[in-house]
Amino acid sequence: MTTSRISGFYNLTLDERRAKLAESAALSPDDLAAYVSNGGLNADAADHMIENAIGTHALPLGIGLNFQVNGKDVLVPMAIEEPSVVAGASFMAKLARAGGGFIATATEPLMIGQMQVINVVNLEEAKLKLYEHKAELLAEADAIDPVLKKFGGGARDIEVRIIENSPIDAFLVVHLIYDVRDAMGANAVNTACEKLAPHIESITGGHVHLRILSNLADRRIARVRCMIPNKELAFDNYKGEEVRDGIIAAYAFAAADPYRAATHNKGIMNGVDAVVIATGNDWRAIEAGAHAYAARSGKYTSLSTWNKDKDGNLVGTLEMPMAVGTIGGATKVHPAAQAAIKLMGVKTASELAEIIVSVGLAQNMAALRALATEGIQRGHMSLHARQVAIAAGATGDMIEKVAAQMVAEKVVRIDRAEEILKEIK
Ligand code: MEV
Repeated sequence: MTTSRISGFYNLTLDERRAKLAESAALSPDDLAAYVSNGGLNADAADHMIENAIGTHALPLGIGLNFQVNGKDVLVPMAIEEPSVVAGASFMAKLARAGGGFIATATEPLMIGQMQVINVVNLEEAKLKLYEHKAELLAEADAIDPVLKKFGGGARDIEVRIIENSPIDAFLVVHLIYDVRDAMGANAVNTACEKLAPHIESITGGHVHLRILSNLADRRIARVRCMIPNKELAFDNYKGEEVRDGIIAAYAFAAADPYRAATHNKGIMNGVDAVVIATGNDWRAIEAGAHAYAARSGKYTSLSTWNKDKDGNLVGTLEMPMAVGTIGGATKVHPAAQAAIKLMGVKTASELAEIIVSVGLAQNMAALRALATEGIQRGHMSLHARQVAIAAGATGDMIEKVAAQMVAEKVVRIDRAEEILKEIK
């Protein structure tokens, strides 16, 4: 059984951390090889992935600790350049653990493919004709991907909308709802839309213009909640109730104001994207879906909620589209992504989605707790100082020395880091 609680992980060397990880998650050194060799993606492989490749681009890969999702411990790989994110998520996962960990669910993996039908003479009539032909359209779309079909996926539904207020004459949009199982689904859905287009044209008499997946994957939602006992929230001179109320008031700000909601949701995405990237998934798709979902009422708002339960403890929830896959695409070819899937022990895309939203909620709470109490800079500065020290040319032991002095002086700037470095040398 994997344990996600590894005490003192922060103070170990890189090699010691890898050894601990292998032990805790029962991984072989081979499984972790990608993390030793810069992500394991060599330039030749990169050359097959994109055009005009000249090499690869690496990011730090850290481990989110203490996570318990649906009663199961999970060590979470997080690829991110920003300091504080991994530490913040791990700390909040520890507090959430005291309240039973994260409870998460995911809907069926249903993606939406869109077909824009223009030049239709009678939109209402064409719409009904499409519904009359639904069974044959679904059968046609279903036969397109035999592999997905074998694993239980395939075409599920057809929905027709009339779009009236647009810069061109009114047109139809046909949504193909497709169960993509453990794939992200873009390829399957785009192929299905392209293949269905001639049939849709013959039914409607119109012209099928765009045929493409929608990133507003609101049929593929992951949800998570957690409860934090008040006593876990107390620290320094702050009482648990005070921190709880501060977090709730911070959430209220995001719920009511789009300027704050954008930053609040960015904090959620700090956690979400880090796991999405570590698993080789398309983070632009997740970002697009998240923000479109946050604006679904017509007003952009918070993706998460923070309130009290009947006992007065803090309860957080998060609900958002989560179109991630565990097979295909970069997840399949990137060695570090393969290692990430193995490390988490996830068997399905839904399980991965449940972990990702848990990290998003933890990260959101980390930001709100800091903002509602001592401010974001205190915790952030000491980690940021290390990056500034490295940028100033510090290496090895010097990094900590230069960073510590800048934090003590409360001046975290590259010019000061350079001066300190000279003084120490
Ligand atoms: C910084 O990357 C993220 C935060 O701004 C999120 C927030 O304000 O909630 C700290």
